[in-house]
Amino acid sequence: MQTVILGAGGMLGRALGREFPEAERFTRAALDITDGAALRAALGPETRLVLNAAADTRVDAAESDPHHVLVNFVAVGALAAHCRKLDATLVHASTDYVFSGKGIRPYREDDPVDPVNAYGRAKLMGERRAFEEGLEVLVVRTSWVFGMGGVNFVDTILKRVEGGARDLSVVNDQVSRPTFAADLAAGIRRLVDRRVTGVVHFANAGDATWFELASEALAREGRTDVLVRPVPTSAFPRPARRPPWSVLDTSLYERLTGGVPRSWREALCDYLADRRAAAPARPAS
Ligand SMILES: NC(=O)c1ccc[n+]([C@@H]2O[C@H](COP(=O)([O-])OP(=O)(O)OC[C@H]3O[C@@H](n4cnc5c(N)ncnc54)[C@H](OP(=O)(O)O)[C@@H]3O)[C@@H](O)[C@H]2O)c1
Repeated sequence: MQTVILGAGGMLGRALGREFPEAERFTRAALDITDGAALRAALGPETRLVLNAAADTRVDAAESDPHHVLVNFVAVGALAAHCRKLDATLVHASTDYVFSGKGIRPYREDDPVDPVNAYGRAKLMGERRAFEEGLEVLVVRTSWVFGMGGVNFVDTILKRVEGGARDLSVVNDQVSRPTFAADLAAGIRRLVDRRVTGVVHFANAGDATWFELASEALAREGRTDVLVRPVPTSAFPRPARRPPWSVLDTSLYERLTGGVPRSWREALCDYLADRRAAAPARPAS
């Protein structure tokens, strides 16, 4: 059985590489999933499992640049069609941004979707397109991912502080479940091993605002010299609206796998350790 990882250079893609060491890995440079001919050439008849971690995750850019639709929707359709021909299973990642964020309890897999931005709409179309082909598909929705190998909020905050910032204003009225890419990949491994299909939510336990996530990361890094101020979303006008409360319910994942996601605070410690280990050594003074 041949397993393939697409988007293998991103946060989830790298983490999947560790969970599926047997997989053949394609970074964007090696395989652009919008290139249908290249995709068909790369995924031969021996392919049995395709893990798609490729996505255009630039949420604000998506409002004005339609390129994300090619990656997050059109390519997913072509990929699903090819997987059906190969009789391969497709595992595809999706997002909490398929929900409006007006919910009153954590979002379950069958709750009504109603994305509030272009990225969420394209990701939702991608989910639906994947299922339309009638093959075995697992869609794993997740939220607020941090990990090695991609642009993420925790890294952005720490880089600002490492660049000299000592006074940060951070949004405190958006709530979700921060998720470590490594934990997400391990969750996907558990689901794949149990041959689960359909839509399943996975996120680390506990919810947070961006302010709480930034504060925790800075505290764990010992940066008591940095002032973090909570501000409303309206203080930072952005091209894309965000759902104010996109907390995913992971009880289906827990029932199906017997696994319980650990807290995001604990997972954050592991990410910070990975980040420190990857930092270039400082020259001795
Ligand atoms: N990041 C989050 O907070 C978040 C939240 C919820 C759901 N998700 C979902 O989680 C999944 C994994 O995303 P991530 O967090 O790992 O983001 P990421 O770090 O941005 O990884 C996405 C990867 O896809 C690659 N890619 C972009 N366009 C491609 C193309 N045409 N062909 C092949 N590869 C392409 C990117 O390459 P380049 O870097 O070279 O562009 C990048 O390596 C996605 O489905 C995303 O929608 C992410």
